[in-house]
Amino acid sequence: MTQKSTIAVIGLGNIGSIVATNLVKGNRAVIVADRTAEKAAGLAKKLGPLATPKTIVDAIKEADIVVLAVWFSAIKELLAQYASELQGKIIIDPSNPIAPDDKGGFKKIIDEHTSAGEVLSAVAPKNATFVKALGTLSAASLAGAAFQKPEAAVLFYATDNTSVADAVELLIKDSGFAPAYVGGIDKSIKIEVFGDLHEFGALGKTITLSALAAKA
Ligand SMILES: NC(=O)c1ccc[n+]([C@@H]2O[C@H](COP(=O)([O-])OP(=O)(O)OC[C@H]3O[C@@H](n4cnc5c(N)ncnc54)[C@H](OP(=O)(O)O)[C@@H]3O)[C@@H](O)[C@H]2O)c1
Repeated sequence: MTQKSTIAVIGLGNIGSIVATNLVKGNRAVIVADRTAEKAAGLAKKLGPLATPKTIVDAIKEADIVVLAVWFSAIKELLAQYASELQGKIIIDPSNPIAPDDKGGFKKIIDEHTSAGEVLSAVAPKNATFVKALGTLSAASLAGAAFQKPEAAVLFYATDNTSVADAVELLIKDSGFAPAYVGGIDKSIKIEVFGDLHEFGALGKTITLSALAAKA
């Protein structure tokens, strides 16, 4: 791909606004959209000319890569609502299938051995490419560890279609991180919350590619 893919971030809460901010810091253009139009306009104003606010439908239509930075159940709704506009796109799912428990923590809201990636990819448009990415760190680390020196922190990703690897890896690099492929969507569980490679799982921290290689 000679020209960079057009990226749209849908949902501008904690994760979506950080993803958009990191991309702009990496000198990458980004379309921003939210169900609250003022949120998209406000963030674009703050980020400057590389960020363009759009409605959700126009953002999806104009993008090659659509980051669905909303909660698990809202991703399901967006996949159904925009099924025709999402045809042929690269869909990025950063979600963790969790909800607050009654002890001040979080609990998984789907079967223990299943990932959000598997559940959501099964309902994504069949000719779109589904990628699990951008959700392996806390919002604080996604903001604080971007463009880390001397060596970038890793963002893991999973997809069944490696023909999109170049585009996804460039998005991750332009966000200030080092990409690391973990395998197909059946490996999503490793990079979701409580998983082996998640900051809130067995890994328990951010990691560089050198530290990851040393662990292997
Ligand atoms: N926060 C973290 O540390 C973290 C870390 C890793 C992964 N994640 C994952 O990232 C995703 C986003 O989390 P977050 O913390 O950024 O959530 P958040 O702060 O609650 O932001 C969600 C955003 O999505 C918007 N939204 C909700 N439903 C929508 C819909 N149907 N259409 C369009 N926009 C919609 C919300 O708008 P309103 O304000 O109008 O509700 C809000 O702006 C989740 O799947 C989460 O599991 C979060």
